[in-house]
Amino acid sequence: MIRFGRPALRGRLALVTSAAVALVALGVLAAAYVVIRYELVRQFDLQLKQQAGLIAQQNRDDGPGVLFAECNWLAAPACAQIVPAAPDAPGQRGLVLPVTGATRRVAAGTLGEFYSNISHDGHAMRMFTTPLRGGNALQVAARTDTVDKGVRQAGLLLTAVGGAGVLLAAALGYVVSRTSLRPVTRLTATAERIAATRDPAHRIELPPYEARRQDEITRLTTTFNTMLDELEEAVAAQRRLVADASHELRTPLTALRTNVELLARAERLTPAQRERASGALGRQLREVTGLVNDLIELARDEEPQQLVEEVRLDGLAERCVAQARGHWPDTVFTTDLDGDVTVTGVPARLARLLSNLLDNAAKFSPAGAPVEVRLARTDGSVDLTVRDHGPGISAEDLPYVFDRFYRSREARALPGSGLGLAMARQIARAHGAELTAERAEAGGARFRLRFPA
Ligand SMILES: Nc1ncnc2c1ncn2[C@@H]1O[C@H](COP(=O)(O)OP(=O)(O)OP(=O)(O)O)[C@@H](O)[C@H]1O
Ligand SMILES: [Mg+2]
Repeated sequence: MIRFGRPALRGRLALVTSAAVALVALGVLAAAYVVIRYELVRQFDLQLKQQAGLIAQQNRDDGPGVLFAECNWLAAPACAQIVPAAPDAPGQRGLVLPVTGATRRVAAGTLGEFYSNISHDGHAMRMFTTPLRGGNALQVAARTDTVDKGVRQAGLLLTAVGGAGVLLAAALGYVVSRTSLRPVTRLTATAERIAATRDPAHRIELPPYEARRQDEITRLTTTFNTMLDELEEAVAAQRRLVADASHELRTPLTALRTNVELLARAERLTPAQRERASGALGRQLREVTGLVNDLIELARDEEPQQLVEEVRLDGLAERCVAQARGHWPDTVFTTDLDGDVTVTGVPARLARLLSNLLDNAAKFSPAGAPVEVRLARTDGSVDLTVRDHGPGISAEDLPYVFDRFYRSREARALPGSGLGLAMARQIARAHGAELTAERAEAGGARFRLRFPA
């Protein structure tokens, strides 16, 4: 019995689902972080620019020099200065904000306004440098503590949300894998139970809400159940065959025993009685032997592949009819055979099928009544029919004549075990052909063996 120690598929599915959800969540959060930081810095820059505009308006005629020097204040604008283009121009003593070549170029008008991050007295600041009338540059700076704090807080918050998201993703993955694999688990359990008990009567029961879904799993379940139906049917048929066979063997065996016991006291019998008993014994032995042989043939399933060949049906029918004429001298067999019809099959088996039909026809029709064998090609199929003029098959017997051991009430007076047609149908099926029985018009029975063309 196969047992899976660890439901590896479930683990994998849970992992993949969780990872996918977690990745998406973390991606979204990272993007949110970037956007928030960008937006906060942009707002801050805008404020700086506005302040620079106000200062430029208020200090129309000021020359180079410091305007506000309280750079450590958190309030803005606390820090601003005007820088000339020439490094050696007067009024530059005590400038508080760093001046670079870029600042000079802005003052000279060769470079546009720009933002930069600077550090002043150990404080992170953002500085805006913009040209001012009269060949100067205006620098406005403010501490970025608030922005940094905002960004940090946003980061912390998003990290917390991300952590929760990953946990949620893991839980989700687990739930998804569990629910989506539940039918598979059930399937496995059923298969294991069948393997353990060897009882194919088990079925997978899907709860109604799952059965309504038409997905791969429900399809697999249906297929599995269908397979179990077939298996159960096959097992039941096998059991029936054995039960039927042993039942059918009991009667002839009892008769055999009676005759054997009779012959054991042979000295007390007259020669005529002895003759009769041993004659009956021989007949019964032949019957039992025939029955056992038939059973063995029936139990065989496939046609032996190496014996398959192209069979001329007309020739085969001729041979079988000739043989039947020998067996049943009182019956008139007539043939009407379309020439040159070949099928692929095992000739001996097909002959067996046909002789079973011919034997029945002769056995069940009155002496002298004709039995007609026809081989005709119709569009799409080849039909071989055996028709007799006997009593025919009554409507209530018709569905059962191909069953093993089935014999109509009238037939029980005649020799036979009811295996002939069962075997015939089995041979037909093994050859991909269809064997059916019908009531012929104007009385009699007609058996039709139909090969697809
Ligand atoms: N040509 C026929 N006319 C009337 N009834 C038939 C005919 N062929 C078959 N049947 C009915 O179908 C039953 C089953 O036929 P089948 O050939 O399987 O068994 P059987 O001939 O009785 O025994 P067996 O063939 O094993 O010696 C027969 O017992 C009979 O009732
Ligand atoms: Mg028969």
